[in-house]
This record gives sequence, C-alpha cells and structure tokens, in this order.
Amino acid sequence: MGLLTGDVLFSVVMAVVVFLLLVDLMHRRQRWAARYPPGPVPMPGLGNLLQVDFQNLAYSFCKLRRRFGDVFSLQLAWTPVVVLNGLATVREALVTHGEDTSDRPRVVTNELMGFGSRSQGIIGAPYGPAWREQRRFAVSTLRNFGLGKKSLEQWVTEEASCLCDAFTNHAGHPFCPSHLLDKAVCNVIASLIYARRFEYDDSIVIRLTELMVDSVKEDNGLLLQVVNSVPLLARIPWVAAKVLPAQRSIIALVKDLLTEHNTTWDPDQPPRDLTDAFLNEVHKAKGKLENSFNDENLRLVVTELFAAGMVTTSITMSWALLLVILHPDVQCRVQEEIDEVIGQGRRPEMADQACMPFTNAVIHEVQRFADIVPMGVPHMTSRDTEVQGFCIPKGTILITSLSSVLKDETVWEKPFHFHPGHFLDSEGRFVKREGFMPFSAGPRTCLGEPLARMELFLFFTCLLQRFSFSVPHGQPRPSDRGMVSFLVAPAPYQLCAVPR
Ligand code: HEM
Repeated sequence: MGLLTGDVLFSVVMAVVVFLLLVDLMHRRQRWAARYPPGPVPMPGLGNLLQVDFQNLAYSFCKLRRRFGDVFSLQLAWTPVVVLNGLATVREALVTHGEDTSDRPRVVTNELMGFGSRSQGIIGAPYGPAWREQRRFAVSTLRNFGLGKKSLEQWVTEEASCLCDAFTNHAGHPFCPSHLLDKAVCNVIASLIYARRFEYDDSIVIRLTELMVDSVKEDNGLLLQVVNSVPLLARIPWVAAKVLPAQRSIIALVKDLLTEHNTTWDPDQPPRDLTDAFLNEVHKAKGKLENSFNDENLRLVVTELFAAGMVTTSITMSWALLLVILHPDVQCRVQEEIDEVIGQGRRPEMADQACMPFTNAVIHEVQRFADIVPMGVPHMTSRDTEVQGFCIPKGTILITSLSSVLKDETVWEKPFHFHPGHFLDSEGRFVKREGFMPFSAGPRTCLGEPLARMELFLFFTCLLQRFSFSVPHGQPRPSDRGMVSFLVAPAPYQLCAVPR
C-alpha cells in the first residue's frame, strides 16, 4: 500500500483516466462519421444520460427535435441512439428500409426474464429466423382462432357483455372504469391463451392486472436505462434484484397457469387455444436443433402477449370513455349510429363496423389523440442505413417517435385536439389516413392490431349501446392530458354509467 502514494498513485490514476477516456472515445467514434445525425454533445462516460428526462421522453425529444431536426442522435452512456420524427422520416425508416431497421437492441435485463439462445419470445427477439417463426405462429393462431369451440369474436362479445353487467352494478353512481377494463381485456388474452375467463373478483385476475400496471411503470425507470446502458451492472445481484420485479412476478404467475393448463392438454385433440397449438409445435419439433418451440419460449411468448395486449388495449378503452364524457356531442352521434345500424335488440358484431363510419372515425381519433405508445418500441439497424440523407451505422438503436407522426402538424388539421373529422370525408364516409400509426409500421408492426381493433369496436359499441356516460355531478371536468410514461394513460377519473 505504501508504494501507492504520491507520484506513483498520481500516475496510476492518470493512466486509468486516460484509458477510460480512450475507451469512451472508442464507443463514440460513430459521431465523427460523415452524415451522422446531429445531437447534443455527450459527457464522458455518461453520454447524454443526464440531458434526457426518462420520465417524459416525449417532451425531451420534442425540445431536441426543435434544435437538431427530424433525425437526431444521442449517446446513452456507450450506446448510440438515433431518434426519428415525423411521418416521412418514420415511414422511410420502418417501411422503405424495413429490412435494415427491424432488429431489436440487445437488452441485458431480458436475460433476467429467461431470455436465452432458444427462447427469445417475439417482442425482444432479434430480426431473424426465431422471431420470424414465432411471429408467423402468433399471427396465424390469432387469424385461425376458432379451431376451438368459440371464435375470438364470440369470446370478445361475451366479455363485453360481462363488462356491461359489471358497469350496471355501479347503478349510475360514480366509479373509475379502468380496473374493470383491465380485467375484461385480461380475459380476452386469457381466452386466446388458456381458453378460459376469470370472474372479475378472482384473485388471479386481480393479481395479474395489478402486476401488469406495475410492470408498465417499471419500463421507464432510470435504473433500467442505466443497467441496460452499462450491462456489467446486471451481474451485481443487488442491482439485478431491483430491476423489473413486477415483470418477474408475471412470468412466475404465467408459469403456474401454464402448468395447470398443460395437465389437460391432449395432443390427439384439436387445439383449444394458443397454448395447445404451441405444445403441438413443441411435440413436432422434438429432436430438431434449430427451432424456437420449447417450454421456456412458451412462457416468454405468453407473457409477452399478456404484456403487449392487455394494458395497451385497456388504456385505449379508458381514453375512449374519457373522451366521450368530455365530448357529449360525439357520444350522442355514436349512439344515434348504434341505434340506426344495430338497435337495442341484438349485440354488436364486427360486420357492423363497415356501416358505422362515425363510430369507426371516433375510435381511430381516440387512438390518434391518446397516442399511448409515444416513442414506440426501440428498433436497431442490422445494416448501415440511410434515412433522410443521414447515415445510420449498423447496430444503432432507433427510437421511432410515433407521437411525432400522430401529432404531425403537416398531416393533421387539428393535431392537438380531439377531432373525429380527421377520419371522415365531406360526405361523412370513413377515410384511412397514412399518418395513423399507433401500431407502428413495417415488419415489426404490432401483430395484435386485428385483435385490438376488434376489442375496441366491440367493447365501445356494446358499452354505448347499453349506457350513457357522463362526468359525475359536482365533480370537476377531468383533464384530457395523459400521464406520461412508456405508455400514456389518462389521469385517474370517475364517470357515471346510466342505463339507456
Ligand atoms: C390498442 C392496442 C395496441 C397498441 C396501441 C399496440 C401498439 C404496439 C406497438 C407500437 C408495437 C411496437 C411495434 C414496433 O416495434 O415498431 C407493438 C408491438 C407488438 N404488439 Fe401491440 N399494440 C396493441 C395491442 C396488442 C395486442 C392486443 C397484442 C396481442 C395480443 C399485441 C401484441 C404485440 C406484439 C407481440 C408486438 C411485437 C411485434 C414484433 O416485435 O414483431 N399488441 N404493439
């Protein structure tokens, strides 16, 4: 120890500092490449970590976009990131160059969730054969659902009925609808995966919906960003234990449900649900080395479908009800259309959608205005790619600001107002809009979009067929500003549901 004093200690410290600065410079060398997107100057070691507000990325990125333009770069510790803004830029990156921009960043915390070489789920899987195999499987199972006893539409319609009954129980008194919406949407995913639903007071559904809501909050924490930027930290048990506790509990719960479900699986019978179909594939794939059908991956895929499909749809429904109580004129017009096309004598069906342009426009406008996944899900370039004339090297993380597309001032007449007219022509017919991108675009676009659309249409029309919604008497008008996180939900509010 005595030797490490004075000049020697100083020289050692200087050598370490110079070494770290050199390593740091090495990791930032991309910035000096020709036509690399501009961005704020990074600090040694931390990069721009302290210049970005992870609790409100949309706001931070909006300020940076004003300074640096539609394509700008950031350095998060040693990780290079490029942020893409506006319809033209996001479309060029995700659609035109979809083959080169559809990889996912390697996220070290995924490994804590059971991510391995043969089990990568869908959302976090690298753009390659295992992702393709699982995506194809999920898409075709969702499309062909109905091999079992009931079609997915039947499950959703019946769940909408149960949801209406639960609303009726509040007898017109004020209540917060979000917990019931969470449970209804949870049941739709449960029907897809386990061919069963849970009563709304069942402890499993209560636990699952609570954990899901917690897990969304976990996705935005600074600790998670720091651990993923400096992967060595994940090796420290104390740090690892602090990261993503809710997501780990969900995996454990899903595992228990799968174990129970699998006791009744009969490979000789037609599949009842997605899990049966997956187990059939595991059976077929036995002995093949290169395949992604195994028990570990089943747990990940199922957890991801719950995670990706539940809170997103439930938050959107919560926005829909908030916006109809804030815009009673819109609510009346939707009810008029329901009365005209469906009446009170039968339940809504998907086939009604084509005859209900106003309702369809309202649901689209809810999704555009609510903008619930403002920053999308991160992508990564798998090749050097050019976007809007900028060169983005292979291995760069891409953040596609869906918010900047859904609120693009060059695309929408009233980007910051709730205006169903965005999706109607002068004759009142529904019009599709290219800037409508809440599900993202390109090869990684949300695979649950058809299911989500079905749920939004059937839940929304069933509820408005049965009830008129209003702000509770004497309560202030709730705000239509969201609570910013990875997913943007409305601030908690109450409504009254009065039977029509
Ligand atoms: C309103 C509801 C929903 C919204 C707004 C939404 C939005 C999104 C977005 C923005 C992405 C990222 C796409 C990208 O990386 O560019 C995504 C991916 C995904 N979503 Fe959804 N989603 C919804 C509902 C669902 C449902 C119901 C399911 C399934 C049951 C689902 C399953 C998935 C999966 C598996 C992915 C990953 C796709 C991949 O990486 O290939 N989502 N979703």
